[in-house]
Amino acid sequence: MKENIWEQRYKELKNLWGIEPEWTLIQYENLVKMGKILDLGIGEGRNVVKFALKNYDIEGVDISQTALKRCEELLKNVDCNYNLHCTNLLDFTLDLNKYSLIISTWTLNFLKKSEGLKLIKNMKNSLTNGGILYLGVFSKEDPKYTFLKESNKEIEKDTFYINKRDSFITYYDKEEILNLFNNEYEIICLKESYSLDIGHGDKHYHGDIEIMIRKLS
Ligand SMILES: C[S@@+](CC[C@H](N)C(=O)[O-])C[C@H]1O[C@@H](n2cnc3c(N)ncnc32)[C@H](O)[C@@H]1O
Repeated sequence: MKENIWEQRYKELKNLWGIEPEWTLIQYENLVKMGKILDLGIGEGRNVVKFALKNYDIEGVDISQTALKRCEELLKNVDCNYNLHCTNLLDFTLDLNKYSLIISTWTLNFLKKSEGLKLIKNMKNSLTNGGILYLGVFSKEDPKYTFLKESNKEIEKDTFYINKRDSFITYYDKEEILNLFNNEYEIICLKESYSLDIGHGDKHYHGDIEIMIRKLS
């Protein structure tokens, strides 16, 4: 059976997305209450190590076994509880009121828009009071969005199927993300950027949206 694109890419390269956590997580780490942390699309674990070292319980989900093996190597060297699930995000059940931090960076883009939005809704319900949600997604400012819009069929709103990767790609805009959060949530930060990605592959730019919100108690 053909391996999924992620498994192929992780086998080609270690530390595919670098080893540093996202800056926003460093900036606001002190806001995260002691408890359980969930990373959806955890990859090799760069965004959770910092919290593992501070004794938070770590849970992660990813479709790539190779990425999770590397993540486990990192976590087992730290004195923390962890639980890693090798599964599709769409098959993972999020329990209610469980996590003090849920992270999902650069992963929801690979689900259809309807699936991504539903998952964000489930993430909100899975936060404890005072819990924090941190999302990173590609925005419609991404040059690839304009290209795909002109050259590919939309499977559903802002979602395209990429044959070569056997994968979907979805783009978001700031307003639709913001609309998911009413006044029971506080915005910690909202960043939109357009930048050159020098981390992997050929020269390319990304349009990004990062949002961190807190569920008010
Ligand atoms: C661009 S990487 C980002 C990894 C990590 N969040 C980071 O920022 O370092 C996307 C990750 O999502 C995982 N992934 C993609 N689609 C997935 C799915 N449907 N279910 C579970 N994991 C998925 C990939 O294996 C990969 O590790």
